Amino acid sequence: MTEDPTELRILCESLARSAGGIASLGRRAIDDRNRFDAGTKSSTTDVVTEYDEAAERHVVDAIRRLRPGDGIVGEEGTNHIGDTGFAWYIDPIDGTTNFVYGQPAWSCSVAVARQGEMVAGAVYVPPLDEMFSAGTGQGATRDGRSITASGQDDLALALVGTGFGYQPEQRREQAAVVARLIGDVRDIRRLGSAAVDLCMVACGRLDVYYERGLNSWDAAAGELIAREAGAVSSVFDGGPARPVAMVAAARGVHAAFLRLLAAG
Ligand code: IPD
Repeated sequence: MTEDPTELRILCESLARSAGGIASLGRRAIDDRNRFDAGTKSSTTDVVTEYDEAAERHVVDAIRRLRPGDGIVGEEGTNHIGDTGFAWYIDPIDGTTNFVYGQPAWSCSVAVARQGEMVAGAVYVPPLDEMFSAGTGQGATRDGRSITASGQDDLALALVGTGFGYQPEQRREQAAVVARLIGDVRDIRRLGSAAVDLCMVACGRLDVYYERGLNSWDAAAGELIAREAGAVSSVFDGGPARPVAMVAAARGVHAAFLRLLAAG
């Protein structure tokens, strides 16, 4: 079983692309029927479809076949404890609300960590047919070409992405933070997929992304990709990045953005 980051990165890309293939078939079926059937999870607005589940099953089966002892955590309920020191993080469709509505920001995210440190990750964005990936110490790419975070150094001119959780009270609090920040930055975007947001920071299509309350599978690949592209990632108070309070920003605005967040 390979431990080589380059091979693991290639495997992440291939798994993310195949999840994207399954999801794209589902997307076409939804369009043909002109309606979606979705179950709900943590709240009535947190949707899950048969395609999220099929794509996760496909990725999990592949990992179990290729790397039987690795741990696997997936958004749709997979939780295998491994014994190799490697653990996989899968979000088969990040941005399921966009997926069911036919909005373009949804993605398939696969990452692998060794002893808790991310080694490689890939985010495939089927509506754009773009593959983002990174390996630790290898930099980040989009469709094989090197990408870098923006050179923005003026927070007042920074385009900032964010997202909202699924609990009504949490959403109200998150919206209040947006209301406070929006006068101090260029503008705010709510794309609807944390993995896409992080890749947008990685390639300079956003200058900053922040969100409270992500899960490991939402952020695992995207945070590595943003970091390897030269963005700075952290929690809201500047400590090491964790999904619970994620900030990823161009180096020139990261510190100023943390100050703005803290000023509330
Ligand atoms: C959600 C998306 C969204 C973010 C939420 C996530 P899901 O993931 O990434 O942009 O704001 O916090 O839960 O549920 O669509 O996989």
